[in-house]
Amino acid sequence: MARIGVYGGTFNPIHNTHIEIAKAALEQYKLDKVYFLVAGTPPHKDTAESVSDINRLEMVKLAIKGQDGLDIDDREIYRAGKSYSYITFSEYHKERPDDEIFFIMGSDSLLNFKNWVKPDVISEYVTVLVAPRFGDDIRQIENAINECKNLFDGDFMLIDYDANDLASSKIRDEFYTDRIVESEVTSDVYDYIVEHNLYSKYSYTKEDISRLDDEMKKELKPGRYIHTIGVANMSYALATRWNYPANTAMVAGMLHDCAKCISDEKRLSVCEKNNIPVTDIEYKYPHLLHGKVGAHYCKSKYDVFDEQIAHAIAVHTTGCPNMNLLDKIIFVADYIEPGRDKQPRLDVIRATAFTDLDMCVYLILEDSVNYLNANPDMVDPTTIDTFNFYKKFIEER
Ligand SMILES: [Fe+2]
Ligand SMILES: [Fe+2]
Repeated sequence: MARIGVYGGTFNPIHNTHIEIAKAALEQYKLDKVYFLVAGTPPHKDTAESVSDINRLEMVKLAIKGQDGLDIDDREIYRAGKSYSYITFSEYHKERPDDEIFFIMGSDSLLNFKNWVKPDVISEYVTVLVAPRFGDDIRQIENAINECKNLFDGDFMLIDYDANDLASSKIRDEFYTDRIVESEVTSDVYDYIVEHNLYSKYSYTKEDISRLDDEMKKELKPGRYIHTIGVANMSYALATRWNYPANTAMVAGMLHDCAKCISDEKRLSVCEKNNIPVTDIEYKYPHLLHGKVGAHYCKSKYDVFDEQIAHAIAVHTTGCPNMNLLDKIIFVADYIEPGRDKQPRLDVIRATAFTDLDMCVYLILEDSVNYLNANPDMVDPTTIDTFNFYKKFIEER
């Protein structure tokens, strides 16, 4: 007979106190394992822009990597219809008839426990372990425990650990301020949040995309506009595949060529007026500047202030070493959007975009370098640097 802990929550994001609570429960109640049971998102949320279920699941996976006794349970994410705890624990009871199940929850959940759907079913199958929260009135929690013991069959007990004021809501609100959150989540989770642009103060709606669509229709030549729509849609699809906020990616795709249909003189003068550095090759071929000028236009013309969008647009023609996730999405979408048909092995590159994004970037760069080698005076050294970076990256990973 095993003793199994199940720690339910949204984990948006999972932070160090969640891990501490799970470890305290493991130790104090001699559990064999604790599963983080990641709750699904209620159906009314705009999943294109909010932190997705998959994002939360991935962060939990990263946080518990290499930690003895901790595991993940994703059933509530994948379950159809409304997901209730009584369904989950009925399943546990069927799957593990000989095991003892401990349901770990925060004190805020316990205070409301009697109002859950079928609390009697839950408490029949589990022992509830309550983690007090920072600032809790312990007498109030003990009263709630006693009330639950009177109302229901199962047992209710406290977990003893050092409560602190760390909370997911605080991390979400303050992630991009000066406050140090690096010490409050694992470094892998921290990097994941940055890479996936989670908890950003900028988010985009269908209306924003529609507004930019109208602007691009006016700004771009017809062929360029059709290409732009292709890139915007492909960016959305790739973002969905790689768990990046999809509307944000679509905005970047929509604006990526916004400085393509202006004159070379105009591009050079925008750079000069705004202290945007211009390289020798860009002086020679000012159309190469449409990325940098486009990034500038995001803020100055189109009221789009997300730094990751500006960066992805700035580097979309040549790429750059160590691109972030959105850089790669836009770089790839620009190359594989449905209107493209001239490049070699496009079918392979398109398929790879959905299975291995870094490999796809590498394949595109390899073809670009081959093409540029046939036209040597057009070679932008950044393309070569980027190619060399990804060649090494692919070889060494
Ligand atoms: Fe472009
Ligand atoms: Fe483009």
